[in-house]
Amino acid sequence: MNYRHIYHAGNFADVMKHLALVLILDHLKKKEAPFCVIDAHSGIGLYDLQSEAAQKTKEWEHGIGRFSGFEDNDDFALYQRSIKSYLDKGQYPGSPLLISNMLRPQDRLIANELHPDDCETLKSNLRGKQNVRVTHLDAYECIRANIPPKEKRGLILVDPPFEERDEFETLARQMGEWQKRFATGIFMVWYPIKAHLAVEKIKREAQSLSFPRTWCMETMQHPRKQEGTFNGSGLLIFNAPFQIPERLTAVLPLLQERIGLLETPTSWIVEDRP
Ligand SMILES: C[S@@+](CC[C@H](N)C(=O)[O-])C[C@H]1O[C@@H](n2cnc3c(N)ncnc32)[C@H](O)[C@@H]1O
Repeated sequence: MNYRHIYHAGNFADVMKHLALVLILDHLKKKEAPFCVIDAHSGIGLYDLQSEAAQKTKEWEHGIGRFSGFEDNDDFALYQRSIKSYLDKGQYPGSPLLISNMLRPQDRLIANELHPDDCETLKSNLRGKQNVRVTHLDAYECIRANIPPKEKRGLILVDPPFEERDEFETLARQMGEWQKRFATGIFMVWYPIKAHLAVEKIKREAQSLSFPRTWCMETMQHPRKQEGTFNGSGLLIFNAPFQIPERLTAVLPLLQERIGLLETPTSWIVEDRP
């Protein structure tokens, strides 16, 4: 387990992922009924952008660093408001902190992290947060143990570091399990786009499942098949909530322009059933 998110915190992929995360939570909060979020690969929760590691790659400068004042787009501004107090201190919040800040008294978060030291740091960064349980399990075990949640509604965030060569095969197997156990859950899966990775195959696998409303969005910084580079990042959203694809699509031109992305393709993997 060599991956450390501090080298990547606040980069263009985090901006896309956390924007989608904030909008989905915003959607879930439109109903009074409680929801449960499982953040299966939590990381440490809070990143110091001035640290030696973050300064070494400076990835955040080409991501969140490209935005200053609040944008005119309301949905992007919602995301900006959720990170502002941290950015003002030279920090960037990770997914579990963003989620815990958006919970209502009736909602809960299971924040899971396998790396032992990172799990301890995560606990300390989430100390005092209400309705949050930190677990130290393999991500897929954590999901299996907790779905369906008793609330029967919620979001599962799957954000692996892709250090394992067979991560896409594992994902394909797991997606089938999720559908059997929690067919109405919202699942958001992040993936990298590199020339050698089987991105189209995982989309076909996603299409073969009977989750309705599966939507995909990608942010590309290089041509898809360029060798040896991190070309882009994608999100697969199962049970994509009503209006979320439209709201995200409306923000993409802003991301493309500010970050200088090559393209930001979106597609329905499984379209809405009549
Ligand atoms: C991309 S980072 C997570 C970033 C975080 N979701 C965010 O958006 O702020 C991936 C994390 O998964 C952890 N990890 C790696 N393998 C894991 C596994 N099998 N189960 C759970 N966590 C794992 C890594 O230690 C790392 O902290």
